[in-house]
Amino acid sequence: MSAEAWSPKSWTSKPIKQDVIYDDAKGVQSALEKIEKLPPLVTTQEIANLKKSLKNVALGKAFVLQGGDCAELFDYCNQDMIEAKVKLLLQMSLVLIWGANMPVVRIARIAGQFAKPRSSPMETINGIEMPSFRGDNINGFDATPESRRPDPSRLVDAYFHSAATLNYLRASLSSGLADLHSPLDWGLGHVIEPSIKENYERIVTRVTDALRFMQTVGIDTDRGVETVDVYTSHEGLLLEYETSLTRLLKDPSPPQHTFAPTPASTTNPSPSKSHYATSSHFLWIGDRTRQLNGAHVEFFRGIANPIGIKIGPSMAPEELITLLDTINPSKEIGKVTLISRYGASKIASHLPAHIAAVQSSGHLPVWQCDPMHGNTHSTPSGVKTRDFKNILSELKQALEIHRAAGSFLGGMHLELTGEAVTECVGGAGGLTEEGLGERYTTFCDPRLNEKQALELAFLVAGFYREMEGSEGVNAI
Ligand code: PEP
Ligand code: CO
Repeated sequence: MSAEAWSPKSWTSKPIKQDVIYDDAKGVQSALEKIEKLPPLVTTQEIANLKKSLKNVALGKAFVLQGGDCAELFDYCNQDMIEAKVKLLLQMSLVLIWGANMPVVRIARIAGQFAKPRSSPMETINGIEMPSFRGDNINGFDATPESRRPDPSRLVDAYFHSAATLNYLRASLSSGLADLHSPLDWGLGHVIEPSIKENYERIVTRVTDALRFMQTVGIDTDRGVETVDVYTSHEGLLLEYETSLTRLLKDPSPPQHTFAPTPASTTNPSPSKSHYATSSHFLWIGDRTRQLNGAHVEFFRGIANPIGIKIGPSMAPEELITLLDTINPSKEIGKVTLISRYGASKIASHLPAHIAAVQSSGHLPVWQCDPMHGNTHSTPSGVKTRDFKNILSELKQALEIHRAAGSFLGGMHLELTGEAVTECVGGAGGLTEEGLGERYTTFCDPRLNEKQALELAFLVAGFYREMEGSEGVNAI
């Protein structure tokens, strides 16, 4: 398959899963034609920077934290919700930097995480059969057949909501939202757990003390700590949309050392070009659309972005290697992030064989643990939830299994929100199944709230410190 010619539309000749059937073909065409003329949402330089950082993760020199909503809604495109999510990722990354003692790459599931794969295209609500909700860029959530009809104008709305979210994200980062001189300004929102608050404040004190010391001894702390990068990501599910934002662009040139004389042979190198998906920096293939001969794999094998592949218990080790060979034939280090999501009770029987296969293949991907998607269950009253202890258990097992195999667990992939939701049970706050109804606002899978997410970051940081033989969380 990989020997065949690739084009941004070559996927259209392959079998596709999770396809959307529109009854307004003209509307789809004009929406896509409009998006094709709009500017890229991200630049190749940003994509290249992320690629470089992920290469460091693959090599065991950095950690990647990826998180955000399961299903982003257009309504989440507002100042408070964007800030709350980014602040939470910043707080968690500070804790992880301290714990793993290495730089943290931040990737948000934001500014485009709209489309959702569903187990069934149709559902029956109050006796009426209608299409399932597929995400805000496809149809509406309201339980009526009219609202559930796939509406092509939502494709254009998705572009503009992504653009507005990204604009505010970039503007707030460049205006000092992530300034390490004042991490306490990131606030702890509704985190009231004294132990978490105390531990967090101790880390912040250490950071500010270190910065003050550097300033005192004359080291310039204004450069490098006043902002950080937060990259965007989403599942690359809706291929028509992704194709309309896939552009053949000049590859960014590597940084030049101005002091070195330029060799004559490189004075005018003809710039190479690649196809970039410009809807976000990082795209991933979901567990339900990663068939070797399917449309999604075909699309993904041609784009220059760093990409993720979700892998669950149904993935055979040989299939994983064929998939890596197809998507990344040159074995570029860190180009692929393998996002494992088996479930706490299954990881021990699947991850070791996947690691062994990858190790003997010569591929060096980023290994990331998604402890959310294999740990979803329904309460007796039918509410979809996840138990904090299963999430933590899968993460801990992932760390131990990688370590035992001489492999590096380079990151975690979480569904979380900066809002005070009640969707996952457990954690220090002791949320019970009975409490789930209080603020259950997800439109798809249950997310960790701010308190639970920060607690998880502390526990994972503690695992890293224990493994390195340093003091635990309480010794900050
Ligand atoms: C998701 O990340 O929201 C998702 C649907 O994941 P998976 O493909 O692992 O089921
Ligand atoms: Co999800």
